[in-house]
Amino acid sequence: MEVIIRENAEAAVALTASLITEAIVANPSLTLGLATGRTMEAVYAKLAEIDRHDGLDFSLAKTYNLDEYIGLPPEDPHSYRYYMNEHLFSKINIDLRNTHLPLGMAEDIDEECLAYEDSILNDGGIDLQLLGIGRSGHIGFNEPLSALRSRTRAKALTPTTIAQNSPLFKVPEDMPSRAITMGVGTILEAGRIIMLVTGKEKAAILAKAVEGPITSMISASAIQLHPKCTVIVDETAAEQLQEKEYYRWIFDNEPEWEPYRNNNA
Ligand code: F6R
Repeated sequence: MEVIIRENAEAAVALTASLITEAIVANPSLTLGLATGRTMEAVYAKLAEIDRHDGLDFSLAKTYNLDEYIGLPPEDPHSYRYYMNEHLFSKINIDLRNTHLPLGMAEDIDEECLAYEDSILNDGGIDLQLLGIGRSGHIGFNEPLSALRSRTRAKALTPTTIAQNSPLFKVPEDMPSRAITMGVGTILEAGRIIMLVTGKEKAAILAKAVEGPITSMISASAIQLHPKCTVIVDETAAEQLQEKEYYRWIFDNEPEWEPYRNNNA
C-alpha cells in the first residue's frame, strides 16, 4: 500500500481523477468499481471536466458500484443509481447498459446479490476499484464485523453510518437502514484499489485503517491485504498518520509519482 498526501482536497481529487483517466486511456474496456458519497462528487465533477476538455472515451467501459440502499427505486433522488446518473453517467459517453448497481428494489435480495457477483465475474472482474471510507470504517457499506472474505450481500447500517448519511435525505428519518453492498472479499479481488479520503473528520478512522491492525471492526483496514492499493489523502485527513514523513518521501522521490509532483494533478 502507498499513501499519497496532497496539500488539499482539490489536489487529492485531481490526482485521483488523473489516475482514473490514465487507466481508461490505457484500457478503454476498463471495468471500473465506483463509490458514491460526498467525497466522490468532486472526483466525478473533475472527470466530467477532463472529459469536456480532452474528450475521454467511456463507450466501451463498464462500471460496478459498491452499494445501493434497499427499498429505494432507481428514480429516487436519494438512490445511488440516481446519484451516479446525475454526477457521472449523464456527463460522459458511457453506455448506461454497461453501468451496474445492485437493485435496491429487488424482490429477492439474496438472488440479486448472487447475480451481482456473477455479473462482475462474467465481465472479467473489476480492474480498478475506487473507494471512500465511512466514519464507521466501512468501505462500501461493509460495517464493523463484516467478514474479510464477505461477498455481495445485504447489510444493516450502523448508527454511525445513519448519522453520517441521513442529513443527505430530504427527510432524514427516510434513510433506509439496510443496503446491498459488495463484500470486503469482492473488493479485495479488484486489480487495483484507489482510496480517496479528505477532511479532518476522517483523520482518526483513516489512521486506524491504514496504520492499525487488520480487523473486521474496521473494514477499510482490509485494504492492507491488497497488493496494489493507493490511498490518496489531503493534509487534514492525514493529520493522525504516524509515518507521514515516509509517505511524503515516497511521493517526492519515487519515479512513478514524478509526473504528478509539480502540478495540481
Ligand atoms: C458509498 C460508499 C461509502 C462512502 C463512505 C464515505 O458508495 O462506498 O463507503 O465512500 O461512506 O462517504 P462520504 O464521502 O460521504 O464521507
